[in-house]
Amino acid sequence: MNSTGTIVLLAFLFAVVTAAPQPNQGRSEDPEPVVSVTTCGGHVNASSASIEFQLGGSIRADMRCVWIVRAPYAEQRFNLISSGLKQTDGIYITPVSFRGLGNSEKLSTLGQNVTLHSRSVMITLIVGHAPTFGFKMEYYSSGTSVSPDITSHAILTTAKGNVTYPSNGGDYGNLENVLFPIAPSVPGQPTLRFTRVDIETGSSCQFDYVKIYNWFDGNYLQVAIFCGTTIPVSVTFQDGAGVVFFSSDSSFTRAGFDFQYE
Ligand SMILES: *[C@@H]1O[C@H](CO)[C@@H](O)[C@H](O)[C@H]1NC(C)=O
Ligand SMILES: *[C@@H]1O[C@H](CO)[C@@H](O)[C@H](O)[C@H]1NC(C)=O
Ligand SMILES: *[C@@H]1O[C@H](CO)[C@@H](O)[C@H](O)[C@H]1NC(C)=O
Repeated sequence: MNSTGTIVLLAFLFAVVTAAPQPNQGRSEDPEPVVSVTTCGGHVNASSASIEFQLGGSIRADMRCVWIVRAPYAEQRFNLISSGLKQTDGIYITPVSFRGLGNSEKLSTLGQNVTLHSRSVMITLIVGHAPTFGFKMEYYSSGTSVSPDITSHAILTTAKGNVTYPSNGGDYGNLENVLFPIAPSVPGQPTLRFTRVDIETGSSCQFDYVKIYNWFDGNYLQVAIFCGTTIPVSVTFQDGAGVVFFSSDSSFTRAGFDFQYE
């Protein structure tokens, strides 16, 4: 083969190699967090974030804060950078999907990664019965693009409150996943009461439903699931935090629910 032939053959092979489909690795992590959050709780809608609360300062006993992370890519990595928290305190990472809340994992040692494949994640700060010191953590999203599955949320931090869903008085929509974390910023043990329920009925509430979760011993425990028009018994969040989660399927909508907590 003459040298021209060799060059043509090499160029051909090169073209074949570069044209071969590459596995879709998706987006890699941002080199640095693109947003910074310093409040007790909030909504993080970004590909990465630094979440620090009272870093170098003190936090009152029994404080609860909830952050909701809405991730643009499939994989989420949470990493603890700096922490003055004690053994009896904790930062917990909880995956959220259309089924509700998954198991929480504690982010407790510096440098530790908690990595999840969940488009929506709740971060909960639980402070024990003594004052403590602040922390800094980071969050990075990577992988293939995903659309959010939590359609709306409200983080309830007042000592008491009333919620009507939908707030406009009409029917809720199809394929909704709505998250209401209840974590009063003044420590307390709020009692949650539903006063109106109108949700598509199913024998095991398999279509549309509300689930109530009560924070207990390192996890959000599901304490109720209901649908139809039956008002559930009240629930006291004895450890100062809980979640109301509503999900609807792709057909039949109704007028929703009202609840109050105090
Ligand atoms: C989240 O961010 C995306 C992209 O910036 C934006 O389109 C979307 O409206 C935001 N969602 C919320 C609820 O803020
Ligand atoms: C956490 O993940 C980052 C990025 O992948 C890595 O550099 C670091 O070594 C990990 N930390 C631990 C303790 O595995
Ligand atoms: C909720 O609204 C009802 C009716 O308006 C009122 O009686 C009740 O005090 C309110 N509860 C809270 C916790 O705000």
